[in-house]
Amino acid sequence: MTPSKKIKTKILRVDPAEIGHIESASTDKESSWIQDWNLKLGDSESARNLVLAAKKLREESLPVAFPTETVYGLGADATRSDAVKAIFTAKQRPADNPLIVHFASIKQLEDLLQGPSNSTSKDVIPQIYQPLIDRFWPGPLTILLPLPTPSPLAPEVNAGLATFGARIPASPIALALIHLANVPVAAPSANASTRPSPTAAGHVLHDLDGRLEIILDGGPCDVGVESTVVDGLISPPVVLRPGGIGVDELRTCAGWENVVVAYEDKAQDGGKGPRAPGMKYKHYSPRAQVILHEVNSSPPTFADVARVSGWETVGFVRTTNVWRKWKLFSDSDSQPNGNGIVDTSLLAAVSHQQAKAKSVTIHDEATGAQISAQVIDLGPNVRDVARGLFSSLRELDSKGVKAIFVEGISDGEGNVAAAVMNRLRKAAQ
Ligand code: TXA
Ligand code: MG
Repeated sequence: MTPSKKIKTKILRVDPAEIGHIESASTDKESSWIQDWNLKLGDSESARNLVLAAKKLREESLPVAFPTETVYGLGADATRSDAVKAIFTAKQRPADNPLIVHFASIKQLEDLLQGPSNSTSKDVIPQIYQPLIDRFWPGPLTILLPLPTPSPLAPEVNAGLATFGARIPASPIALALIHLANVPVAAPSANASTRPSPTAAGHVLHDLDGRLEIILDGGPCDVGVESTVVDGLISPPVVLRPGGIGVDELRTCAGWENVVVAYEDKAQDGGKGPRAPGMKYKHYSPRAQVILHEVNSSPPTFADVARVSGWETVGFVRTTNVWRKWKLFSDSDSQPNGNGIVDTSLLAAVSHQQAKAKSVTIHDEATGAQISAQVIDLGPNVRDVARGLFSSLRELDSKGVKAIFVEGISDGEGNVAAAVMNRLRKAAQ
């Protein structure tokens, strides 16, 4: 893009508390508000920012970035090819990777599936999804649906497949934006392709400055990893991507007891060894090399760190309590012999999201050699790890570290840990 054409990117703040009120539009007392609802807009800057963004989304072709509860999305009117193509251009995303279509209500989705025939059929969403919809929508779950014929969606959305992914997000900002735009919104994560997904407005600006006009800033995302993508059109149903809803949660739903995990994701060496960076296709990757230590594998030694970092500044992401006991980081109280370093304040887990790195120096006991390090401690809680994962990788990148050693977590629980480890294994490939 030539400098004269550079677009000025604005961050517009939206406080969810100032948007206004959601009112159920459904006359059926049994059905939930998400079936169909109206928005009584507040008189606030937040509401005005939303209205402006919705108008741009509906009428223009540059994508609009907005927060969801999972990660920030880069949205466009899913029915217009020019708008959808602009998403791929801004992200530099390969055209064969389909986008998720976001809806504000079940009625909006049903209307799209029903098409212009004005059919009164209510069962346009396959029954298999009903228990999931009742339980997880609005929320971090994407379902695959057959593409209606004729399809009102731009063909670029689903990359030529016979299905498309649909999701109703839980974020009130996302819901209000889609409702106001009154179009289905195609939105991938708002990062530059190959980078970690953005969980704050600043991350989007960092990656896409000058490639879009508006970034709605709703603060840090609550979940921190993307939605779980499921396909219930085949039997047994499958999970295509682990995400904010765990497999164990899916299995509690009727028809989903035997859901099969269909994404490729294996712990290397049976989960014992560190995962060294390779030359494969990149995903979720910071600039620094990521070295993932699977849970229960041995920690890096000083020599490992020196070799990988070439003695330059190195980053560490800690999760469980295990790495706190390692020599290189040991707190003086847990290692009375005074091995390694020390900075007891490292134990403070990051507060809601935005991971902050701490500067420390690690020492080689034998030779007294030193390497400077930046350490982020996400704490032992799985949800906190998910929430802070992508921002830690970005934060350590911003510190210019050469490599990032990450303490993996156990992903045998069928919860969001599976998504965390899936992203980390890809980042370390
Ligand atoms: O949480 C999320 O899902 C975020 C926020 C913005 O909603 N969006 C997101 O979109 O992660 P994206 O484009 O980064 O990931 C979409 C995923 C990809 O893995 C894509 O291959 C899959 O969904 N997908 C979309 N449509 C599909 C289809 N028809 N068949 C199979 N996979 C599909
Ligand atoms: Mg993505």
